[in-house]
Amino acid sequence: MVEESPLIDADIRKAHTMPSKYYTDPATFASICAGFASHWHFATHTSDFAKNNVLPIPHIESQTGEPMILTKSEEEIRCLSNVCTHRGMIVADEPCNTKTLQCPYHARTFGLDGCMRNMPSFEDVENFPSPLDNLPEFATGVWNGLIFTGISPSTSFEDWLKPVTERMNWWPGINQLQRDNSRDRDWMIETNWALYVENYLEGFHIPFVHADLHAVLEHEEYSTELFEGGVLQIGEASDGEPCFDLPKDSPDFGRKIAAYYWWLYPGLMLNIYPWGLSVNIVVPEEVGKTRVIYRGYVADPEMLGKGAGGDLDKVELEDQIIVEGCMRGVSSSAYDRGRYSPSMETGVHHLHRMLTDSR
Ligand code: FES
Ligand SMILES: [Fe+2]
Repeated sequence: MVEESPLIDADIRKAHTMPSKYYTDPATFASICAGFASHWHFATHTSDFAKNNVLPIPHIESQTGEPMILTKSEEEIRCLSNVCTHRGMIVADEPCNTKTLQCPYHARTFGLDGCMRNMPSFEDVENFPSPLDNLPEFATGVWNGLIFTGISPSTSFEDWLKPVTERMNWWPGINQLQRDNSRDRDWMIETNWALYVENYLEGFHIPFVHADLHAVLEHEEYSTELFEGGVLQIGEASDGEPCFDLPKDSPDFGRKIAAYYWWLYPGLMLNIYPWGLSVNIVVPEEVGKTRVIYRGYVADPEMLGKGAGGDLDKVELEDQIIVEGCMRGVSSSAYDRGRYSPSMETGVHHLHRMLTDSR
């Protein structure tokens, strides 16, 4: 039997990049997004429960079509369906602090565990309530305060996050993170989500696009590691620039690391700097429109504004010009596919192989 050759060759030296229809064709876009239900997604961080114990997570609805809420009672955190079991109204559209969820349509109430509590004018209804009247619960996973959820994840939470947890185990900042709303951003970009992600997955463009970032990173030491379901890039600091104080038990002991850039399929980026964590969530809104959400969690305020994670807005805006330009370019009849730099674009090659199922 002759084996069909994959669309993206496993050998990066032979491979051609992803055909442009993957960025421009609405049907291809829809079929890729339909697969997002089987992945884990970042929901929020425990410090986000400081004022409210019920948090809608609309960015997950935008990514998967599934309306969800997080509830916290005692120390138990749950991810519930945000869809009323009566006639389908959204139960909570805003964060709130309450012991009971009440549907705004006909006042059905639920406990924070999702159990149906009360429903007006239902005295004569037979076999009511039944378990079907409770809000369904989704899988959750928590790693040092970071909360993740999924509709029907195909891997266990532990296995999925293992590359991150094993590598970052030494980092004391993970237990000190506090939400800093001043670092939140919500960008709408005229590009396909994969162009945004692939731009993130290579440091190749840093000297050409990000002059200030280039000045604080040691270009020769920038590294990219691939793993099942994601990519880790490590930026090393130039002389005199801020870096992590790595203990001996870190696998990276001896390196001057300025930033860990973790990408987890499909659209989650965990950027870990000496000051803390910047979470980027890439939300594919339409085939040519992408929302990018930033959430900032600070561990060491004294390190803010310094080094590779110093001015994230400037880097972001520089990237947006590029990814919007590429969206116009890949829509051209004169362009379909390109080639990869084997030393600089392994992360992009990895993403393309995932998206085209060429693995
Ligand atoms: S739809 Fe919620 S009570 Fe009717
Ligand atoms: Fe960039």
